[in-house]
Amino acid sequence: MSDTPTSPPPTPNGRRAIDLAPSILSADFADLKSELRRLERAGCTWIHLDVMDGHFVPNLTFGAPVVKALRRVSRRLYFDAHLMVEAPWTLIDDFAKAGVQSITVHAEACPDLPKVLRQIRRLGLRAGVSIKPKTPLRVLDPHLGDVDLILIMSVEPGFGGQELIPATLNKVRRLELNRQRHGYAFRLQIDGGINVETAPLAVAAGADVLVAGSAVFQGGTVATNVKRLRAAVGG
Ligand code: DX5
Ligand code: ZN
Repeated sequence: MSDTPTSPPPTPNGRRAIDLAPSILSADFADLKSELRRLERAGCTWIHLDVMDGHFVPNLTFGAPVVKALRRVSRRLYFDAHLMVEAPWTLIDDFAKAGVQSITVHAEACPDLPKVLRQIRRLGLRAGVSIKPKTPLRVLDPHLGDVDLILIMSVEPGFGGQELIPATLNKVRRLELNRQRHGYAFRLQIDGGINVETAPLAVAAGADVLVAGSAVFQGGTVATNVKRLRAAVGG
């Protein structure tokens, strides 16, 4: 199984490798096998799995059994699971067995976040933490050295096709400054409303993993949409 495609430290001109993480939330759920093939043919290495429980967010998507089936379809893609669920610690083992490589939980759903991050890492997976737009960045301060990925939600979690909330880019900027100042190794991921217009803004703020659902799966072929997004960030 491919390990996390971690980005190398910034090159002398300060540029980081940028990864695109297509969110299958906007894919054709009646044809996910073909959608994964399209992502692979378009040269994508990540897939972002938006798991929603209908409680933490007002939408219900899919669980570990679906991820297990997708794992059989693609051995190559890096499965980046975003758990928008209550009590995520009750589901982590199932998603690990289903074959994900990374699990991101919401700080708002974890009274004991360090314990949950340890649980993920003990399973040999990359551990990520996410915060909603209204959650202050300071809640992440004690954990910056203990995560492999930080996911800044640039929309209210629950649905694709929303507009990016510009103020969330300030969180990305502040995190990037902190990462540079302290040499943290976490990937900086942004999720929600990422398209050819907003992707360059997110990268300029410091994001190096871009989640995009509707910008990849809607309004054109996956191949052309991926190409346009890559071109928008100089990829
Ligand atoms: C929202 C999800 C996002 C969403 C992104 O709760 O976490 O990943 O699918 O969709 P777009 O790119 O359409 O905003
Ligand atoms: Zn997501």
